[in-house]
Amino acid sequence: MIDKSSPMPIYYQIEEEIKLQITTGILKPGDILKSEREYAEYYQVSRMTIRQAINNLVSQGLIYKRKGSGTYVQEKKIEQGLNGLTSFTEDMKSRGLEPSNRLIHFKLIPATSAIASKLKIDVHTPVYEIKRIRLGDNTPIAIETNIIPANTVKGLTEDIIAKSLYDYIENTLHLKIGKAMQIIESSIATKAEAELLGIAKQSPILLIERETHLADGTPLEIVKSSYRADRYKFMISMNR
Ligand code: GLP
Repeated sequence: MIDKSSPMPIYYQIEEEIKLQITTGILKPGDILKSEREYAEYYQVSRMTIRQAINNLVSQGLIYKRKGSGTYVQEKKIEQGLNGLTSFTEDMKSRGLEPSNRLIHFKLIPATSAIASKLKIDVHTPVYEIKRIRLGDNTPIAIETNIIPANTVKGLTEDIIAKSLYDYIENTLHLKIGKAMQIIESSIATKAEAELLGIAKQSPILLIERETHLADGTPLEIVKSSYRADRYKFMISMNR
């Protein structure tokens, strides 16, 4: 219960109490929360105070509002370790989710000079540009665009990338994927991204850029992904 004589702000105490109900499973993913009015009556505080607690929990990604319907407990975030070089398909499967893809486009295009210099190929050399929505248990998780040199990853088709790119590279082409450099930064979904991901526009997203090389050092892909920040988080273990 809240303590009105405590120096801790009341909205914060309420926020922590609802958070505790979520982390201990009293409130489960998909459950609807009480309305602002009901909470205000329950705690004997103003609706403004409740609104502040609720808005803080929304920005922490623990709950979300559905227009005209109410506020719900968010599904648990997918936690991805950053210590291994994994594919989206592997990330989903290791969390017990069924991966799938929705193809936005699959093109063979001549490399621009920026792409050519990153992939260490000549300008105008053919590269695949693949844009997919990546889903877990049928929920859109990310939009991903890969640029891949056609001479390195031979014979790519729409059917192959409807499943797993890395699986094809390793188990059909027998190429060894070596290492990648990845940058993660926060951003806000554009209208188009929000529509593809099924989230409200201007929702937070995580932008990820990866440059992957084969074990022999040959550049394999440059990738840009936009992950839903409400469904995804990264975890890294560190030694000292
Ligand atoms: C992740 C990486 C991409 C990689 C992809 C392969 O999403 N960010 O760089 O291309 O996995 O995934 P899959 O093998 O499932 O197609």
